[in-house]
Amino acid sequence: MSFAVSSNVTYVGKIDWELRKFHGDELSTHRGSSYNAYLVRDEKTALIDCVWTPYAKEFTANLKQEIDLNKIDYIIMSHTESDHSGALPELMREIPDTPIYCTDNAAKFLKAQYHQDWNFVPVKTGTKLSLGAKELLFIEARMLHWPDTMFSYLSDDNILFSSDGFGQHLASGQIFNDLADQDELYSEAIKYYANILTPYSKMVAAKITELSGLSLPINMICPSHGLVWRSDPLQIVKKYQEWAQDYQENQVAVIYDTMWNRTRAMAQEIAAGIKDSAPALTVKLFNLSNTDKNDVLTEVFKSKAILVGSPTINRGVSYAMAGILEMIKGLSFKNKKGAAFGSYGWSGEATKLISTELEHAGFELLNDGLRITWNPDSEGLQECQEFGRSVGGALK
Ligand code: FEO
Repeated sequence: MSFAVSSNVTYVGKIDWELRKFHGDELSTHRGSSYNAYLVRDEKTALIDCVWTPYAKEFTANLKQEIDLNKIDYIIMSHTESDHSGALPELMREIPDTPIYCTDNAAKFLKAQYHQDWNFVPVKTGTKLSLGAKELLFIEARMLHWPDTMFSYLSDDNILFSSDGFGQHLASGQIFNDLADQDELYSEAIKYYANILTPYSKMVAAKITELSGLSLPINMICPSHGLVWRSDPLQIVKKYQEWAQDYQENQVAVIYDTMWNRTRAMAQEIAAGIKDSAPALTVKLFNLSNTDKNDVLTEVFKSKAILVGSPTINRGVSYAMAGILEMIKGLSFKNKKGAAFGSYGWSGEATKLISTELEHAGFELLNDGLRITWNPDSEGLQECQEFGRSVGGALK
């Protein structure tokens, strides 16, 4: 499948309508994804990126329909994660001597993954590759989101190929941002940032500053997942600037797991208390047992505070709670507050454990947490409401 991106650039990637899990089970992809690859034609021809391993044969066969593979002069690897490099071995069997332009780290990572001594040409920020009338300028983009990552900028057409940056896991019948459903586009773009790029926000902000300093006109941004930003392409750069600055909305997420609806009852009363004392705050409740974990993490990203509740099970927290706390810690959220709660029968360690985990994850604790034995009675529910009111008061 190929589409014209511009008069010189052809989309030769793979739209994956069926993908529902990514990185094993780490990331949900409710709307599929795409592995974007681009063919840039001038006097010389460059292929920018490949696709994921299962689509290697399909990719190579489609590419042959588009171009005689021997006419590909250069391969550019922006980033070596399998979703972009997986088809490289299949392609290199056909054109084994083609030079691969990539960062030092990318060359190391490709060697470590595929054990092939291909013709690597290492590049750094500022390295240029002439294609004839146009040239590619490479810009290293370490930790956006791997140490190997780089952007490529096509002069004259003013196109930034941005690897995973500015991407979305979104399969679409459209290739351009202006033709897509904007709610879908932005909900996938923020989910992508929240779940993948949050830990690297400082690098994201610094890279955008560096890019701005280069004063390159940008007519289009072509990421390696999702849609091409051709209409007001800097809109997503501005969003990234916001998201990279310890982003938060006037929102609190109440995230809980429950066995017999007691911690759930607490969550509801706490939410009511927050709302009562801080009506302007958006309060959202998420039951972990029936909410996608990555959607929850996106809501954590958007929240100024999270209240986290679990019953005590075998002196610990629930399985789902342990998982989400680990993911929250890994994402290194900044400038957020938190508190714990939960119902328990006899030992009741969960609340303290959650508080400790939140602290380790960098959250400022709003209080020591609230735990209630067994089923909260009217007094217990009142206590939950008061707890919520106090949280709401602190967050107003
Ligand atoms: Fe889309 Fe980091 O690979």
